[in-house]
Order: sequence, then C-alpha cells, then structure tokens
Amino acid sequence: MNAALDCSRANVFAMPLDAIDVSDPKLYANDTWRPYFERLRREDPVHYTAESAYGPYWSVTKYKDIVRTEVNHHVFSSDSALGGIQIEEQPKDMTRPSFIRMDPPRHDEQRRVVSPIVAPLNLANMEGLIRERTIRVLEALPRGETFDWVQRVSIELTTMMLATLFDFPFEERRKLTYWSDVAICNVDSADSPVHSEAERFEKLKEMADYMSGLWAERETRPPNFDLISMLAHGEATRDLAPLEFMGTLALLIVGGNDTTRNSMSGGLWALHEHPDAYRKLRADPRLIQSLVPEIIRYQTPVLHMRRTAKEETEIGGKRIREGEKVVMWYISGNRDEEAIAEPERLIVDRGRPREHLSFGFGIHRCVGNRLAELQLRILWEELLPRYPVVEVVGPPTWVYSNFIHGIRSLPVRIPA
Ligand code: HEM
Repeated sequence: MNAALDCSRANVFAMPLDAIDVSDPKLYANDTWRPYFERLRREDPVHYTAESAYGPYWSVTKYKDIVRTEVNHHVFSSDSALGGIQIEEQPKDMTRPSFIRMDPPRHDEQRRVVSPIVAPLNLANMEGLIRERTIRVLEALPRGETFDWVQRVSIELTTMMLATLFDFPFEERRKLTYWSDVAICNVDSADSPVHSEAERFEKLKEMADYMSGLWAERETRPPNFDLISMLAHGEATRDLAPLEFMGTLALLIVGGNDTTRNSMSGGLWALHEHPDAYRKLRADPRLIQSLVPEIIRYQTPVLHMRRTAKEETEIGGKRIREGEKVVMWYISGNRDEEAIAEPERLIVDRGRPREHLSFGFGIHRCVGNRLAELQLRILWEELLPRYPVVEVVGPPTWVYSNFIHGIRSLPVRIPA
C-alpha cells in the first residue's frame, strides 16, 4: 500500500515498487495519480499489487497491453460470477449481472437488443432535440456570478438525455441522476448518497420496482424506440431474472449519464488548464470536431475495467494465473507516451484523436460512444458563440472513486 499517499513525483519514484497500489480512491480524489502510473509504465508496466483494500490484483498500464487484454476475451472474462468488471467486487449475495458483466454469447445477444438506439439514423433524429435543450440550458445560465457548472450544465444535460433514452417521466428525471449516483458511488465517501452495500442494494431495488411499472406498460404496447420498450420486447432480454433486470437498468442509467457528465465538466477544466488551446479553439471552432474526442481521452471518465483470467496466461512477459484479477487502467493507457504524443497536453487539433482507450476496446467497447460525442459536440457548438469564455474560478472537487474519474463540482463564471 502507498506509504501515507506521499504524492510528490520524487517520493513516488523513490518508494519500493512493490508498495505501489493504484487502487486507492484518494489518488483520484486528490488528483495525484499521475506519478504512480508514470513510474509503472516505465519500470513495471504489468504490475502486481499483492495487498490492497480489494485484495491482490494486476495493473495493466500500457496502451498496447490494454488492447491485447481487451481483445483476448476468451481468456480475460467479464463474467459477474468470476468477479465482474470492477476492482471492487459486488458482495456475493448482491451481484447484479448485466451484459457488461457477461461473456459471449449472452453478452452479444443482449447488447444487440439495445444497440439500435444509438444507430446513426437515430442519432441524426435526436440531434435537433439535443440542440434545442442545450440552447435552453445555456441561455438560462447566470452572467456575472459564480455557479456550479456540474449542476447547471453537465448533470442537467445528461439527465435530460437519459430521460429521453428511457422515455422516462420527464419531471421525475432527477430520480435517474440519483440512481446513477447510487449505483456507482464509493460507499466509503462522505458525500455519497448511500453508505453501505446493503443500502445501495435497497435503493437499486426501489429503482427496479419503479422501472418494472414502466416495463409492464410497455410490454403490452407495440415496440417503441426507447430502451425500456426495446428490452421488454427483445428476445434475449424480455425474461430477465430480477437481479439481472436490476443490473441491466443500472448499467444503462450509469453508462448514459455519469461518463458524459464528467466529459462535459472535464472538458471545461482541461481548456482552463490549457489557455492556448482554448484560444486556438475560439479562433477556429471547426476544431470542435477533434476537441471532443481529445477531451474524452484527456478526462478518461472511466478509470479502469477489470477482467478475471480464466486460465494461466501472459501479459507483457508476466505470468498471470487462473482466477487472478487483471485491471486495465485506461487513465494510464491514455497517457502512454509510446502510443500518444505529448499525452499530458490537451491538443485541440490532435491527429487521429479518436485513438484513445476511454471507450475501451473489443467486444465491450462502449455502445454509446457516438451519442456521447454528439452531446459534447453540440454543447461546444452552442457554447462557443454564446459565451466565448467561461471562466473557471476555482479548482474542481474530484470524486472519491477508483472507477469513475468524476468531477463533483466546478465553480465557474460567465462575464456579465
Ligand atoms: C464519454 C462518455 C462515455 C465513456 C467514457 C464511456 C466508457 C465506457 C467504457 C470504458 C465501457 C467498457 C468498455 C470495455 O470494457 O471495453 C463502456 C461500456 C458501455 N457503455 Fe459507455 N461510455 C460513455 C458513454 C455512454 C453512453 C452515452 C451510453 C448509453 C447510451 C453508454 C453505454 C454503455 C454500455 C451499455 C456499455 C456496455 C457495453 C458492453 O458491455 O458491450 N456509454 N462505456
């Protein structure tokens, strides 16, 4: 474990290698993760931590090794029964399987049911609605006073999107935000909405009960183009067992919400940290096209995905035994200087900006990636002409988590 989280670069480089444990949520809450991964990429790219709060685990930190692990899904399993996709496992009697926590063939069958919602034609159909809402949210922002960008913009926009995807009662949409926070929070964090796994389970059960009502309505009606109707009519999903029902809805709520929210907040923070890039963008708004994927890389809203080895194997010269936990740190792969030039800089006109790991890789690659990009593109297209400068007036508060790279609040001001 990290000796008292001593985070200066020199100290991190001086500590014994086998003491490095990047699973500690404090590294992300304090924004001090960089030197740890820099050292691992250089000295021990596939690193074993024998002792951590989550048990022993391997860290895969280089871009190419992460890709190799992702594509080898016959060996590296996502199966809930083996531990699922997070370093922190769901308690055995509260596992909530969903297709992100499954291997083929069930994964593929269930993913196929929902993926049409983000097909190019449907995205094109949604563009007008997303733009109209984005304009409304931006027009309502106060001028000349400090407000929280996360609450007023990121959460509002992504929650509205989610309500549309589920065809959820619009006035009750903040329920979705709440359930998303419940599903993904670290229960040890003081500002989390729940503080034990049992409490989390209870609240998600309330979510599942509420959603069952919508489901019951929709299964009796002809198929509609919303996620609940699609699941209720899908051959592979219409008979989900109760825990799988809970897991699948939680996956879709979190997937479509938290990650895009944090890209909306992280992008503004990143541009504040790179004033030259911000100026360049203002001078040529066509750069929004490459800005969007660059923000998603730079922020890396999902810190890691985990797999479990189903048999003895090897990554980067290290022998991995059957049953061992393998954690792919996207946050590190996206900073790998052998794959990405000047990775610590936000470069608004980066060549091939979509070649990042924030959406994962292989059969589980994010199903909503084009929708997330669309929402971000519209946000920046509508923001720049209205408010060429949004001043960030204080540092972000980072979320206490080793899974979601999140921003809890970001104080900003639009000049009067
Ligand atoms: C910037 C925004 C987003 C980021 C960074 C992100 C990231 C990810 C990552 C890392 C994975 C796992 C990939 C892997 O294991 O290889 C994933 C899967 C997934 N994402 Fe996203 N996501 C975003 C937006 C969305 C949106 C908007 C939706 C919903 C419409 C969504 C729905 C999903 C689903 C359903 C999966 C599971 C896919 C599978 O297991 O086959 N995501 N996402």
